[in-house]
Amino acid sequence: MEAVGTLAGGVAHDFNNHLTVILSFAEFARTSLACDDPAREDLDEVILGARRSSRLVHQLLAFSRRQLVEPVDVDVNETVESVRKMLGRLIGEHIRLETRLQPQLPHAFIDPGQLEQVLMNLAVNARDAMPEGGSLTVATSLEILDDSPARSLVPPHIRVRVSDTGHGMDAETQRRAFDPFFTTKAVDRGTGLGLAILHGIVSQAGGSVSVESEVGVGTTFTLCLPLAQGEAVAACRPEPATRRARRCDERVLVVEDDGPIREVVRRALTDLGYRVQVASSPGEALLLVERAQAPFDLLLTDVVMPLLSGVELAARVVHAHPRLRVLFMTGYNDDTLAVQTLPRAGQILRKPFTPESLGRRVRAVLDQPLETTPA
Ligand SMILES: Nc1ncnc2c1ncn2[C@@H]1O[C@H](COP(=O)(O)OP(=O)(O)OP(=O)(O)O)[C@@H](O)[C@H]1O
Ligand SMILES: [Mg+2]
Repeated sequence: MEAVGTLAGGVAHDFNNHLTVILSFAEFARTSLACDDPAREDLDEVILGARRSSRLVHQLLAFSRRQLVEPVDVDVNETVESVRKMLGRLIGEHIRLETRLQPQLPHAFIDPGQLEQVLMNLAVNARDAMPEGGSLTVATSLEILDDSPARSLVPPHIRVRVSDTGHGMDAETQRRAFDPFFTTKAVDRGTGLGLAILHGIVSQAGGSVSVESEVGVGTTFTLCLPLAQGEAVAACRPEPATRRARRCDERVLVVEDDGPIREVVRRALTDLGYRVQVASSPGEALLLVERAQAPFDLLLTDVVMPLLSGVELAARVVHAHPRLRVLFMTGYNDDTLAVQTLPRAGQILRKPFTPESLGRRVRAVLDQPLETTPA
């Protein structure tokens, strides 16, 4: 299993690089087409296919390290779509399954395998509550509380609501539903662990869960999941213009040893109005920093590179330029650890990314006040 894990990790890294290139060029091509160009739909299929492949990589990694909880940036809509078929089979044909997914949902931060497990536990409970049939609805949305006092207490989050039209719960059952081994089912039907496990998963991810139910009417479980790093800022200002450079002289230094990725990043950020310089190695980057006429605002660097890692590079450059912001790009899952050892912890952008998600993250990192970066 360990060998498979190591192999999967290595393959995932290269694979995520390739997928970033595919996704990005497909998106470049798509935006250059007229709205009614039929090739747009073809490109949408390319993008969908690449996203599916990226999910496959995640699943492979999850399988080989099943025991570890690895929260990552997760597109909750994609997770719902990917388990939809399985949920349908679980609940049976007498129950209608409906999904209401808010488009362009920012990513959440949770272990994707665990999120799937949460959805399955809820679906099985809903099925048991609707022996005669009914409907099960899974809805996703971005929640932003607008009145300012509440906003500081409840930051923006992803909300997932799972509702059924089953027999519901009385007040006592609702109160105890999340207790371990609490069940109202026959001995061979339930152990009372489904909701306890769900509660554990969601709390561990930094989220919360609540339930509303009425006897004879139905039940709704509401999950609140934390946003992925960097999404919090971007999510509050969704209009695409804010991905752009604020001034025409915001300078970004891109360090990446993979040629096609370097080109994708250079092009995407140049299109957004940033002044971009690229380096293919940490050594070249250090030279560029030394010779730069004006200081860079952002260092955007790969983590794993020959000779000097992105983390070491960042440590050196930040030492000389304390106002520089840092964003790491990585195709590995375990780079998180190395990045956390940096004096001023950098933020991580996971591959594969698209020009869109890259632009949002870069803007979010640049907009963050320096003082709030964890010391
Ligand atoms: N959608 C629902 N509608 C009505 N009652 C529910 C629903 N979900 C949970 N419950 C109630 O909460 C109890 C606890 O649920 P939980 O999933 O923790 O355990 P279980 O389903 O009984 O057993 P297990 O999940 O371990 O197989 C259930 O026995 C049931 O009474
Ligand atoms: Mg259950």
